[in-house]
Amino acid sequence: MAWEFESPLIVAPMAGGPSTTALVRAAAAAGAVGFLAAGYKTPDAVAREVADLRGSGLPYGLNIFLPTAPADQAAVDEYRRLLQPEADRYGVELPHPPLFDDDHFPAKVRLAVDARIPLVSFTFGVPDREVVADLHRAGSTVIVTVTSAVEARSSATVGPDFLVVQAGTAGAHSATTEPEGYDGSSTAPELLREVAASVDLPLIAAGGTGTADDVRGLISAGAVAVQAGTAFLLADEAGTRPVQRAAMLSGRFTETVVTRAFTGRPARGLRNRFIDAYSAAAPVAYPAVHHLTTPIRAAAAAREDPEAVNLWAGTGFAEARPGPTAEIIARLTKI
Ligand SMILES: Cc1cc2nc3c(=O)[nH]c(=O)nc-3n(C[C@H](O)[C@H](O)[C@H](O)COP(=O)(O)O)c2cc1C
Repeated sequence: MAWEFESPLIVAPMAGGPSTTALVRAAAAAGAVGFLAAGYKTPDAVAREVADLRGSGLPYGLNIFLPTAPADQAAVDEYRRLLQPEADRYGVELPHPPLFDDDHFPAKVRLAVDARIPLVSFTFGVPDREVVADLHRAGSTVIVTVTSAVEARSSATVGPDFLVVQAGTAGAHSATTEPEGYDGSSTAPELLREVAASVDLPLIAAGGTGTADDVRGLISAGAVAVQAGTAFLLADEAGTRPVQRAAMLSGRFTETVVTRAFTGRPARGLRNRFIDAYSAAAPVAYPAVHHLTTPIRAAAAAREDPEAVNLWAGTGFAEARPGPTAEIIARLTKI
């Protein structure tokens, strides 16, 4: 379905807390469109959020994770051994995580189809052609996230309406289908150019946008919209954890890096002690490593210790400001 983005700005789906129905409502009230994040939630929890927005007549989207290949037992076991001092430090027990977890992918797709969600986006892979066709029949606009021209070409074959072109500068997990070699070095303008030369689909740019100049530049370069996440982490309506809000406002963290240390999949976050200690050893094993480190992260967050928490953020993090979502949207779309 051809969707007309009235505002150049999309409030990104942000799994792990920041995305709330309040954030999506505030984005819509300000003329933009926001996404709910289905990642890590049970289908029931997603259904409750969708029910809250469904009757509202507001534009909104839902983002769904594609399942990834099972992790290697030996690699997870070895990383588990390496993390034992962290478990001791925070007084937690490390789980033996499942090697495969589909994050309820089929149920979440079914929910999106049944609820006729206006916009449905995917990350971490390419959905089957049948999934895209089912969503189209339900009236949804379908978006696939890509991180390279190669991924854009393979995504185009399943018939999406838009691609999110996610640069290495983006906050949190990369959508990459090749997590082993991913270095997060691409910027949004250059990746947009590369992908535009490879596929004939409307493109949504993402990664590192902190200012109206960044947004304007990407729209002038041909993007139909810009999907920003980090800029909204301090929004009043976001569900960002207090430990992350405090870290972002502290001035103590001065750079972001890409790491697999927290989850086994490359993700960009504020550089802290845990990243420095474990990035080199962390295997490609998502979401097994996500489950493995959950107790450590939860205990650190409860102690308001930002040094062992995944403080996901993109390279534009220093531009993020607290305040109402409407104000942040106005600032990013100022002409
Ligand atoms: C805290 C956080 C969580 C995120 N969670 C998701 C997610 O669940 N699904 C998704 O497709 N993208 C997710 N993203 C990535 C965004 O969709 C987008 O690519 C990114 O925020 C753009 O870069 P920026 O953060 O520099 O604006 C997340 C980003 C952040 C900062």
